[in-house]
Amino acid sequence: MSAPSSAIQSTLVENRVFEPSDATVKAARISGMDAYNALCAEAEQDFEGFWGKRAREVLTWHKPFTKVLDESNKPFYKWFEDGELNASFNCLDRHMGTPVENKTAIIFEADDGAVTKVTYKELLAKVSQFANALKARGVKKGDRVVIYMPMTIEGVVAMQACARIGATHSVVFGGFSAKALQERIQDAGAVAVITANYQMRGGKELPLKAIVDEGIAMGGCESIKTVIVFQRTQTAVNMVAGRDITMADAMAGQSTDCPAEMVGAEHPLFVLYTSGSTGKPKGVQHSTGGYLLWANLTMNWTFDLKDSDVFWCTADIGWITGHSYVAYGPLAAGATQIVFEGVPTYPNAGRFWQMIEKHKCTIFYTAPTAIRSLIKAADTDEKVHPKNWDLSSLRILGSVGEPINPEAWMWYYKHVGGERCPIVDTFWQTETGGHMITPLPGATPLVPGSCTLPLPGIMTAIVDETGNDVANGAGGILVVKKPWPSMIRTIWGDPERFKKSYFPEELKGYYLAGDGAVRSADRGYFRITGRIDDVLNVSGHRMGTMEIESALVAKSDLVAEAAVVGRPDDLTGEAIVAFVVLKRPLPTGDEAKAIANELRNWVGKEIGPIAKPKDIRFGENLPKTRSGKIMRRLLRSIAKGETITQDTSTLENPAILDQLAKTN
Ligand code: WT7
Repeated sequence: MSAPSSAIQSTLVENRVFEPSDATVKAARISGMDAYNALCAEAEQDFEGFWGKRAREVLTWHKPFTKVLDESNKPFYKWFEDGELNASFNCLDRHMGTPVENKTAIIFEADDGAVTKVTYKELLAKVSQFANALKARGVKKGDRVVIYMPMTIEGVVAMQACARIGATHSVVFGGFSAKALQERIQDAGAVAVITANYQMRGGKELPLKAIVDEGIAMGGCESIKTVIVFQRTQTAVNMVAGRDITMADAMAGQSTDCPAEMVGAEHPLFVLYTSGSTGKPKGVQHSTGGYLLWANLTMNWTFDLKDSDVFWCTADIGWITGHSYVAYGPLAAGATQIVFEGVPTYPNAGRFWQMIEKHKCTIFYTAPTAIRSLIKAADTDEKVHPKNWDLSSLRILGSVGEPINPEAWMWYYKHVGGERCPIVDTFWQTETGGHMITPLPGATPLVPGSCTLPLPGIMTAIVDETGNDVANGAGGILVVKKPWPSMIRTIWGDPERFKKSYFPEELKGYYLAGDGAVRSADRGYFRITGRIDDVLNVSGHRMGTMEIESALVAKSDLVAEAAVVGRPDDLTGEAIVAFVVLKRPLPTGDEAKAIANELRNWVGKEIGPIAKPKDIRFGENLPKTRSGKIMRRLLRSIAKGETITQDTSTLENPAILDQLAKTN
C-alpha cells in the first residue's frame, strides 16, 4: 500500500455546527441522535439479525431467504442467497393496488423544457411492454445488455426492463467514446445495445447511434445480435438491416403485461464500469437483493423520504448515482422524482433553481462541482442567482461525488436551502452501491465539509497501513470492517483483481475504499481527504491516471511516454495534467499547442471528452529515479506550479523539470 502522506494529512479545521431544528427532528424517520445510536447498537449486537429484519421489511420476496450472510468464501460474500425476488417487481408491481399506483413516478423535463409525466401504473405498462420486446429480440435471463442512452424516461424503462427479465444491464455514460463503448461491450459479452438516435444537451443534438455503429465496427463485438434505437429526435440515422430496430417498432404489438422473472438474490442486476488504478476499467458487479435493499433503505434514511416529497437527483443514469438514486431507489421507495435531460447551464445557469420552483422539488441531490459552477455564474450574473426563484418547497439538500468545500457548503445552505434545509453530504462509491457515510437530516448536527458518521450497519474505520485503527485527529486509510448488503460482488470476469483491489491482505480482510480520511477529535466525524491511489476525481467523476496514460501512448506515432497526475481545480475539484515525451524533438510555440490539441482530441476519442487533459506539458524525458520509477510527487508539484524544494539529486536529468513546467 502506498499512501502519500500528503493525501492523508488533516489540514482543515471547521468549527461551525448546524443542529437540526426541533421540528425536523420530530418529523424524521430516524428522529434524533438517540434513534441513530440505537440503530447502530442493534447492528453491533446482532449484525445478521439487523440486516435480515431490514431485508424482510423493505423488499418483497417471491421466496423468502433462510440465511442472511454467507461468509464461507471471503471476500466473495453472499447475502440472502437462497431468497428469490425481482428488482423491477419491487420498484413497480409492488405498488399496484396501493395509493402509489396512480402517483406520478417520473416528472421528465426535456432539454427544451417540455414536461412529460408518468404514473407508476403507466411506467409498469411501458417497462413490461419493452421487456416483452427484449424477449422477442432473443434477450433472456443472464444475458448482458449495454445501455447507451440519454437521461429520459426511456433510459429508466430500458434499465427496468432488463431487470424485469433477469438480463444484466451495463449502462455506459453517453459521454464515453466509441472505443470505450466497444471495450465495455466486449468485456461484458453483451448481446444487445439499447441506445437513442441522438441526445439533446444544451440545445444541441448530439449523436449516440452513430457512436454505437462506430464502436461495433471496431471489431470484437460479434456477441451483439440486436441494437434497439429510441428515437429521441426526428433526425434519421443509419439502421443495419436485421440487427437494428427502433424502440417503437420493437414495442409495437407487444403486450403491456410481462410477469417479472424471479431471480436469486445474488443474481447480477448490473455491471457498471469504473476507473481503477490500471489502464483497464473495472466492471463492478452488483447483486439484486442486497443492492436494492440498500437503495431503498437509504432513500428512506438519508433523504428521510415522505409520501409527498418531490425528489430530484441530478446524476446521469450512466453513473452509480443515477442507478441507485434515479433508476432504482426512488422507484422502490414509491417516490415522485424529477428526471432532467439537459445541463445546469442551459438556457442559463438558473435552470436548476427554475426547475425546483416549477416542480416544487422538496429534496435536491447534486454534485459539488455543479454547485461551484453555479456559484460562479451567480457571482457574475445576478439574474441567475437562486434568490430570483421561490425555493421554499425545498426541505433537504444533498451532495455527492467529491468532498464539498466549506465555502460551497455555506453558499448551498444559505442561498439554496434558505438556512432551513439540512445538507446530507453523502460519501459512497460505485463499489458500495449506496450511501456509506452521511448525516441523517433529522438527527446529525452538520459540520460543513464533513460527511459526518456512517449509516447504521456500516462499519467504517480509519486505519494505518497494517490495518490498525488510528486515533481520531490522525489521518489514515478509509476501510469498511464488515461486509454490507449492497457491496460490490466481484469485478466482472476478474475475481482475482477484485480480491487484490479491495481486500489487500495487509488490511486484515477489510474493504479498502481507496480514500484517505480523518475523524475529528471532538465528534469522531469523518472527513474524506481524497484518493490515495492513482485515481482522480474530475467533476465528481472517477478517472484512472493509468487509463489516460494508456490512451496517450496508444498514439504510438507520436507519443513515447506519458505520465498523468491531478492538480486541484476550483471548479472541477481536480484537473488532469499530462506530461508527455514525444517521439520527435521537443516542440515549442504553435507546434507545441497544435500537438497538445491533437493529443487532447485523441484522448477524447479513446475514452471520452471527460478524460481530456486540461494541461499537456512536453519534455525530453520524465523525472525518474535511477531504477526507472517515475517520480509522480515531483510531477504533482510541477502541475500545481510549485517550485521544487524536494531533493532531486537522484534524477538522471534535473533540467527536464524546467521543460515540463511550461504550459502549452
Ligand atoms: C469516489 C467514488 C458516489 C457516487 C459518485 C462517485 C469520492 C464520493 C464523496 C463525498 C468526499 C466523495 C471518493 C470516492 N466521493 N462522494 N461525499 N465526499 N468524497 O462515485 O465514481 O465511484 O467515485 O468519489 O473519492 O472514492 P465514484
